[in-house]
Amino acid sequence: MDHFTYIDGALHAEGVALSRIAEAVGTPTYVYSTATLVHHYRTFAEAFAGQDVTICFAVKANSNQAVLTTLARQGAGADVLSEGELRRALAAGIPGHKIVISGVGKTRAEIALALESGISQINVESVAEMELISEVATEKGASAPIAVRVNPDVDAKTHEKITTGRKENKFGIDLSLAPDVYARAAGMPGLHAVGVAVHIGSQLTDLMPFRDAFSLVAELVERLRSQGHDIRRLDLGGGLGIPYRAEDPPPPTAYAAMVKDTTGHLGVEVVLEPGRMIAGNAGILLTRVLYVKEGTAKNFVVVDAGMNDLMRPALYDAWHGIVPVAEPPAGAEMAAVDVVGPVCETADIFGHDRVLPMLKCDDLLAIRSAGAYGAVMASTYNSRPLVAEVLVRDDAFAVIRPRQSLAELLGADRIPDWLGT
Ligand code: LLP
Repeated sequence: MDHFTYIDGALHAEGVALSRIAEAVGTPTYVYSTATLVHHYRTFAEAFAGQDVTICFAVKANSNQAVLTTLARQGAGADVLSEGELRRALAAGIPGHKIVISGVGKTRAEIALALESGISQINVESVAEMELISEVATEKGASAPIAVRVNPDVDAKTHEKITTGRKENKFGIDLSLAPDVYARAAGMPGLHAVGVAVHIGSQLTDLMPFRDAFSLVAELVERLRSQGHDIRRLDLGGGLGIPYRAEDPPPPTAYAAMVKDTTGHLGVEVVLEPGRMIAGNAGILLTRVLYVKEGTAKNFVVVDAGMNDLMRPALYDAWHGIVPVAEPPAGAEMAAVDVVGPVCETADIFGHDRVLPMLKCDDLLAIRSAGAYGAVMASTYNSRPLVAEVLVRDDAFAVIRPRQSLAELLGADRIPDWLGT
């Protein structure tokens, strides 16, 4: 469910015509819908009514502070994985006690900032990291609340590049080693274990892998408790998929029922880290047609957005809906085209053989489902400035990140003395 719909033949974000945004802000531009963000957050939160849950939005999916503030106002916490994300979450008004930090490579500075911010949990990914957390906390005279992220060796049955819970993946500590790691944690100064964490992958469209992983983790909690560890929290990660095309992911209510089923008997607080489910379909990438190029094998529509702006199709062969901003009238002539960007890479393609109306230069297109892992993964490849981001609410819109200027982009380079004139 989203709020990008045609009104009187023109695609709108809520009450704002996308053509209006293109005129005012230019293209390419990410456009997010407040109503969609809020709807997804509430649907997810309401599914867990009656369960003791904290919803920590996965900031990696969309870290714009206006988006984070919108979700914070709904009561969201944050799952962060770097100093930058932690600072963004704090700046958006999310209190430390609603923030968890994950990630396989936390630095000393990140651990120190996490402790200073009073964050609720540091997810430990290795024994070496646990030793560093103990050292930093001891230096500060603090006690770090930790959860060991376990790797349950469950196949999430999603794209290979976004699977995280297999033995071969770099994430987490092998489930079988976990009791020993908790025993070691108990003997280290400056640490107290508050929970167990798991995250098996992203864009899951089937509950079974979640069920398998959560059941294994629930067994581990019982075992740890029998060994004297006071485990009160379970961080179950994110990963619930969204419909990009024809996928039919389980609704949040089914996911919530499964969480209750697998972990309800433990009486733990459950932390959830959804990212894509909240933000994915709350954003589009607005782009303009530069050229229509007729080839012998194919026709191409060259747009002004490139793989540097939205990397998912190039990186994961991800499918994103592409729709014209001007609604084609009934019976309009349609043709199959490849929608491609201007970057000098064959991978710079947003869609193969998309059936679209006959497009011409300056027509606008919306690349859908781009609210998660879109702007956050953008780069300046080909010296293309980072694009603007806009947030819509009802009939109003605001630029929440101005387009990077070429002066900013080029001015970031420094010429060493030996090349000076
Ligand atoms: N928690 C942890 C520890 C994670 O690593 C992730 C995502 C999440 C939560 C949020 O997962 P979500 O609910 O959004 O599925 N760039 C890829 C996705 C990478 C996901 C990384 N981790 C993409 O564009 O598909």
